[in-house]
Amino acid sequence: MITFPTIKLDRCSGCGLCITVCPDRTLTLVDGIARASGDKCMACGHCQAVCPVQAIEISEVYADLGFKHIEEKKGWLAPGAMAAADLVQLLRSRRSVRSYHEKPVPLAYLEDLVKIGTTAPSGTNSQAWTFTILKNRGEVELLGGLTAAFFHRLNKKAASPLWRLAARIFAGDSLGRYYRRHYQTVREGLADWDERGEDHLFHGAPAAILVGGRQEASCPAEDALLASGNMLLGAHALGLSTCLIGFAVEAMRHDHAIGASLGIARDEEIYAVIAVGYGREIYQRPAPRKRVEIRWLNSAPRNPGG
Ligand SMILES: Cc1cc2nc3c(=O)[nH]c(=O)nc-3n(C[C@H](O)[C@H](O)[C@H](O)COP(=O)(O)O)c2cc1C
Repeated sequence: MITFPTIKLDRCSGCGLCITVCPDRTLTLVDGIARASGDKCMACGHCQAVCPVQAIEISEVYADLGFKHIEEKKGWLAPGAMAAADLVQLLRSRRSVRSYHEKPVPLAYLEDLVKIGTTAPSGTNSQAWTFTILKNRGEVELLGGLTAAFFHRLNKKAASPLWRLAARIFAGDSLGRYYRRHYQTVREGLADWDERGEDHLFHGAPAAILVGGRQEASCPAEDALLASGNMLLGAHALGLSTCLIGFAVEAMRHDHAIGASLGIARDEEIYAVIAVGYGREIYQRPAPRKRVEIRWLNSAPRNPGG
């Protein structure tokens, strides 16, 4: 369903700002007043956000995201209004944490993380992402067990030279690659899980959030991963730690019964599984990165910093 902006005609000053920011060219000025005359609207809300006299509203989208714990600072931060150094420090301080306290994560924090996720951009503003919260250790262990069962089956197949050969003939070398790269680590991880209850998958996290996308989205994977990126940073700011769990994503991608066991609809794909909790790890400094090679089109400028 297409939602169009509603314009309060008695408030509109005819400044035209809404028209300049509308990506769908939905709005025009008629007799000095903004009108929704186009046939498309992706409900991005830019017109509502730019209007100096609050004359525009789009139903079904909300200006107030309803954070439960975070006291949101109202108002728009203009480019350059925040110290880039603070942002870079946050970006560099987030870590993938692999050891958690048992302390449960307040549900309000988990809900706020999802809302932080929804601040991300999405292709054609579809916002067709999904968030499934595993709110306690029992629920995390349920997904852990289902993921472990998937990898038990996969390892059994990968261990067989016959299966690897058959897979190579009919489906390429992905099983062989898995065998060479992951089989042994997964085998050891599964043994630790089965024999000693050691959790190398979720690292003992007391909560997790699954970020998915529905088929109606134009870019479901990108949308879900951008939302996830925001959530990782938001968690750090909230005093929480996180870790992306690619192994769980892989299991859910290949075995849709896992999603079904968690009540996830058949037409949803899970693109990120985020372990969440109070991390035990304390760092002295940010982690280093590989030196990035920046490629300039044509020749490099003489003074790129200037
Ligand atoms: C797509 C993706 C999947 C990942 N899967 C796992 C995983 O299954 N288990 C894990 O411990 N870490 C996982 N990680 C975390 C990476 O190992 C981590 O991001 C990398 O080592 C850099 O560390 P940092 O996140 O602290 O900067 C994953 C990261 C990404 C981006």
